[in-house]
Amino acid sequence: MSDRVYIFDTTLRDGEQSPGASMNTAEKMRLANQLEKLGVDIIEAGFPAASDGDFEAVSQIAGKLQHTEVAGLCRASKPDIDQAWAALKTAVKPRIHTFIATSDIHLQYKLKMNREEVVAAAVAAVRYAKTLTPNVEFSAEDGSRSDRDYLCRVFEAAIAAGASTVNLPDTVGYAIPEEFGDLVRYVIAHTPNIHQAVLSVHCHNDLGLATANTLTAIRAGARQAEVTINGIGERAGNTSLEEVVMSLHTRPNFLPMETGIHTEHIYPTSRLVSMITGIIVQPNKAIVGANAFAHEAGIHQDGVLKNPMTYEIMKPETIGLNTNRLVLGKHSGRHALRTHLKELGYDLSDEELKIVFTQFKELADKKKHVMDEDLEAIVTEGILRTADIFKLEYLNVSAGTTVLPMASVKLSVNGRSVRDAGYGNGPIDATFNTIAKLTGTSSELLRFTVGALTGGTDAMGEVIVRLRENGLVALGKGSDADIITASAKAYLNGLNRLEYLKTHPVKAAQVL
Ligand code: KIV
Ligand code: ZN
Repeated sequence: MSDRVYIFDTTLRDGEQSPGASMNTAEKMRLANQLEKLGVDIIEAGFPAASDGDFEAVSQIAGKLQHTEVAGLCRASKPDIDQAWAALKTAVKPRIHTFIATSDIHLQYKLKMNREEVVAAAVAAVRYAKTLTPNVEFSAEDGSRSDRDYLCRVFEAAIAAGASTVNLPDTVGYAIPEEFGDLVRYVIAHTPNIHQAVLSVHCHNDLGLATANTLTAIRAGARQAEVTINGIGERAGNTSLEEVVMSLHTRPNFLPMETGIHTEHIYPTSRLVSMITGIIVQPNKAIVGANAFAHEAGIHQDGVLKNPMTYEIMKPETIGLNTNRLVLGKHSGRHALRTHLKELGYDLSDEELKIVFTQFKELADKKKHVMDEDLEAIVTEGILRTADIFKLEYLNVSAGTTVLPMASVKLSVNGRSVRDAGYGNGPIDATFNTIAKLTGTSSELLRFTVGALTGGTDAMGEVIVRLRENGLVALGKGSDADIITASAKAYLNGLNRLEYLKTHPVKAAQVL
């Protein structure tokens, strides 16, 4: 058995199914480039039949990537497969990923099909996909809750029809590691042609066991892991790429398998995903959380100073976490900024660097030390957020103990300037009321959180909002040295994301 584990990244597809995590095409493209740099083997770029936005993103990514396989998800139906292929066909290495559920509960209630019909649909889908590309993956949705012998029968039929990868998902995150490892061994032992395909696993994290299940499956013989950056995804998320890769990297005696991941790009990729989606990484998240390498206890600090390996099982540098951060200030030049941004994973064009440099200088005038977090915020707002409908042109707020808080706001709406003023309970309420008037939004503010990007009273404030309108949910993120401006930017970012969702409705019934 090969000791190479293929890393199939589905951040752009299953990851995007995290509530509020929608990304536009430009954001997906940027992330796909970063994932290629990270060295993932396959990027699942989207579900082309689901929405025009997905179709567009998959086609653009397919047309751009040179080394990485690009997969498009589709149900086991000809129109879905045709849509996927139309989006994928320009890829250097396309992969059609077709799926159908195999558990009795899904067959009876969702598909309303019997077992024979599902086998026939799977075979027909794989056979048809195979006429378009030799690289076809078949997934048995809800595989972990399917009858074992039936699952093996479906896999055998899919491989005979031409599937080069068969994927066993724990769709609802129900499996327990020992049980899941046992299921993988069972599948290998009872699917006669299994060695003609790569066996993959795809775990969800509902019980917090996605990584454990994936690793157990790899030990049992699976050779593709389907993962997302930061573990984002539907409900409690998917198996996190960084946890699987660093487990293999850190424990080669127990897990003697390799991946093609360049681990030093893990941290910058994690930051990029968080910046683009607005989903914050919990501080105690394994590998990439802010506290993952922070030692608080004196006895630990003492040990780490004497020899880092006393309490650290991995080196921060291995994942690209630069602990000796070069801090930039107002005398730093364009070259230092470019070099530093590159280290953070942002390879900017000259035009983009010009924009970031101007904003960096403005911030450096207000703040003595510009930190990595500040630069990331500038890049996110100045570069990553493209095609915005609503932009802040100016904001003036008066507030205090004796005045009625008032905000005067000027926005650009689709390139046209509009302005107004309004009152509120406080300066943020006044700002939001005025923005709501100017944009005409009927969205509801579900959550509003304020934090500081770094330490110190001159730190940039970071605001995250969660908005809902007609069942659509979007996150918005904004940062600025001024907390009220940061709030306005976050609100506008959320409104822009809602607009994107409205104009890119999901077409296919979301069955995942
Ligand atoms: O969770 C799941 O079953 C999926 C499949 C489509 C692979 O995402
Ligand atoms: Zn999934």
